[in-house]
Amino acid sequence: MRRPLIAGNWKLNGSRESALELAADLISGSADLSADLLVCPSFTLLNPVREALAGSPVALGAQNVSAESSGAFTGEVSAAMLAEAGCAYAIIGHSERRTLYAEQDRELAAKVLQALSASLTPILCVGESLAEREQERQEAVVQQQLDAALGELETTAIAKCVIAYEPVWAIGTGRSASPQDAQAVHASIRAWLGGLSESLAPSVRLLYGGSVKPDSASALFEQTDIDGALVGGASLNASDFLAIARAAAS
Ligand code: PGA
Repeated sequence: MRRPLIAGNWKLNGSRESALELAADLISGSADLSADLLVCPSFTLLNPVREALAGSPVALGAQNVSAESSGAFTGEVSAAMLAEAGCAYAIIGHSERRTLYAEQDRELAAKVLQALSASLTPILCVGESLAEREQERQEAVVQQQLDAALGELETTAIAKCVIAYEPVWAIGTGRSASPQDAQAVHASIRAWLGGLSESLAPSVRLLYGGSVKPDSASALFEQTDIDGALVGGASLNASDFLAIARAAAS
């Protein structure tokens, strides 16, 4: 049985004050929840949020990680630095990083390796654009992204990853994929894992992301291969985020 994971991607939002308030609300609302909760604030908010979450079951993650371990890479933050800052997870290859910052598949494979080498759990994001969906190429696109980012890894390393399916057209648009459409791609991701190793397929957690809201969450989580969510907008509101987490836990 895969334990649900509900991850909040706070993106470029929040102040120290609002982040601490959100963290406190999440702690008080998450007791006895049978789902893993994770928040991913901006780099500069990691430390205050880590302190606020200390002793709670809510985990901390980063929204990005460098493909390099150290050296002359101005503006980068390494996996080891993130681990030292208290992160347990790192989001890798979010579509905003791919499209706005031109992150390439090759670089993403290196980021996954860096994260694993610092014992961070990579959350690898994959997903098709609207044009690709209209051409019904979603499964082929996702498979190509998986091959590029994870294809060279040992299956024991892939077993330590989380994969988030986030159709680009659903992110921040209020237009979630239907549970059936999301499930179809999740099943194809699980089949891809099964093609590498039979034992891998049932163990890796697959999250759905893209306009997940409290009222759309339950139907998504009822799908066989959806093990949680990567939540953007709704993760900035504690009661919405907790409602999504409760839907996953029930
Ligand atoms: P959204 O963002 O929930 O606001 O659509 C999801 C994401 O970008 O991870």
